[in-house]
Amino acid sequence: MDRIRIVGGNELNGVIPISGAKNAALPLMIASLLTSDTLTLENVPHLADVELLLRILGNHGVDVSVNGRRERQGEGYSRTIHFTCRTIVDTTAPYELVSKMRASFWVIGPLLAREGRARVSLPGGCAIGTRPVDLFIEGLTALGATMEIDSGYINATAPKGGLIGGTYTFPKVSVGATHVMLMAASLARGTTVINYAAREPEVVDLAYCLNAMGAKISGAGTSTITIEGVHSLSGARHRVLPDRIETGTSAMAVAMTGGDVTLEGTDFALLDTPLDAVRRAGAEITVTPSGLRVVGHGHAIRPVDVVTEPYPGFPTDLQAQFMGLMTRANGVSHVTETIFENRFMHVQELARLGARITLSGQTARIEGVTRLRGAPVMATDLRASVSLVIAGLAAEGETTVSRVYHLDRGFERLEEKLTRCGAVVERITD
Ligand code: EPZ
Repeated sequence: MDRIRIVGGNELNGVIPISGAKNAALPLMIASLLTSDTLTLENVPHLADVELLLRILGNHGVDVSVNGRRERQGEGYSRTIHFTCRTIVDTTAPYELVSKMRASFWVIGPLLAREGRARVSLPGGCAIGTRPVDLFIEGLTALGATMEIDSGYINATAPKGGLIGGTYTFPKVSVGATHVMLMAASLARGTTVINYAAREPEVVDLAYCLNAMGAKISGAGTSTITIEGVHSLSGARHRVLPDRIETGTSAMAVAMTGGDVTLEGTDFALLDTPLDAVRRAGAEITVTPSGLRVVGHGHAIRPVDVVTEPYPGFPTDLQAQFMGLMTRANGVSHVTETIFENRFMHVQELARLGARITLSGQTARIEGVTRLRGAPVMATDLRASVSLVIAGLAAEGETTVSRVYHLDRGFERLEEKLTRCGAVVERITD
């Protein structure tokens, strides 16, 4: 199993090309199930989750052709992938595949909309919380589907003639269930109104792509989305938006180590709340023609309190990294997690590097220390693992992060990008 070895203490200086967003690419790829034409996606990151979804889509009948060139382009290491699903050959998404990645459950939307039925394994628990699917069931039921749970699977059936537009008000914000409702309602008969929808940029990106495919979606990016169903969707060409979580993670790394880094191909507007928190912690962030410039001092980091919230609030996917930054602050800060109930597994690993963190319910109290010291640590989930990498970059001496397969799910060429900026980071394959 691979490990990452880091020798901390170097500033980061140079350019980090920001990749396409994993959490936009996954629903966009799933949208290819909605049409028999070819959907072409540009700027698709090369990640373990993307590769797994390619296999899952193949199982349903999607032909995939990947543009062989993977040269570095303006925005990162982009790939262009063509997806063609002439016919859906299987409407079952089996446990063996769905259990590996929760987002694969989202195929339920297009399978149901296009074929009138889907049998999809329940995704099961996940390290960061229970993550139920009740909102998907309620939302699709509002479109006329019959949803039955049987032997660990959801059997979803549309009424004769297909899904019917309806109104659904989410009791809480769900990114995944909003994606599924957009895809399902696009092919429903009549108009659907979704209230209290997720406003994440990845939802807007999906709506934009679906509209390019012929859907009639308005209001994406606000809490109320209206979808006028159409009879069929066509192919389209769409560029995946830049990864705001990689952007924020990189900015926090520079704030922590010190240095001067340009984050190329990204957009401040995607993450102004977390970048504002990084600024308040002491880093300078300016918008440049190619992206963002982050200048960090690596010391005199100011304590800043954050609370995770749905977009446009502080993202849960940057909580662990921000906590990493706060371990070196000049005082006490608090980080409160409101989205997932078990997303503090990095706390005990950060403590191994010398961080002083105490937990009280959903709030972590972080007492900044002047220095962290390298140690062996273990990655527990995707974002937790990268918080350990950035803490390792700022720590004295050597840190090894084990179980890096978590990292490979969501960060493209992380070691290479950091090494180019002067970090000492290497992958060790045993
Ligand atoms: C997406 O997950 C992201 N995943 C997550 O990123 C991200 O942390 C999360 O949104 C929140 O921003 C992808 O985009 C692939 P939710 P998702 O449904 O859609 C509860 C990463 O590290 N809920 O918005 O699964 C749920 O338990 C990943 O890249 C229900 O109660 O998240 C959670 O408490 C991790 N019932 C809250 O809603 C449901 O039916 C928000 O979850 C569905 C969700």
